[in-house]
Amino acid sequence: MVEKRTSQLAELIEPYAGRSEELIQVLREIQEKLGYLPKEAQEEVAQTLGVPLSRVYGVITFYNFFRTSPRGKHIVRLCTGTACYVGSADRILTALQSRLGVAPGETTKDLAVTLETVACLGACALSPVMVVDDIYHGLLTPDEAVAIVDRALEEAG
Ligand code: FES
Repeated sequence: MVEKRTSQLAELIEPYAGRSEELIQVLREIQEKLGYLPKEAQEEVAQTLGVPLSRVYGVITFYNFFRTSPRGKHIVRLCTGTACYVGSADRILTALQSRLGVAPGETTKDLAVTLETVACLGACALSPVMVVDDIYHGLLTPDEAVAIVDRALEEAG
């Protein structure tokens, strides 16, 4: 598995050897292929493109679409924007964290669920809102939110 990933990485990065101006492009390609940017990929990119590792890391942390850890099979996105916050999104977040054992931005150890928070899901009238695998759920209580996540996990088998 690691060997396969290493050769995949080499294949992706090699065409960009010495081309530091293509840093963002190569990072995007790697993330598209692997789903995230593991430490070894960051190091390989720095070495092959001839840029400091700190610059690679700086780019990854600057753009929020880059991820440094794998994503789960299910993506749970809870809105913590103003309307949802007023509607007790914080209590829902606490319930989800307690059920899943992860903080926002983290993935469960079994790679089943990634929990994310977002500033607004564009459905404020339904606050508090959560999206599970691209399906919107609104007017939630903490118990309902946990039940929805449980159902998604059960349906996955
Ligand atoms: S603030 Fe939550 S959907 Fe807009």
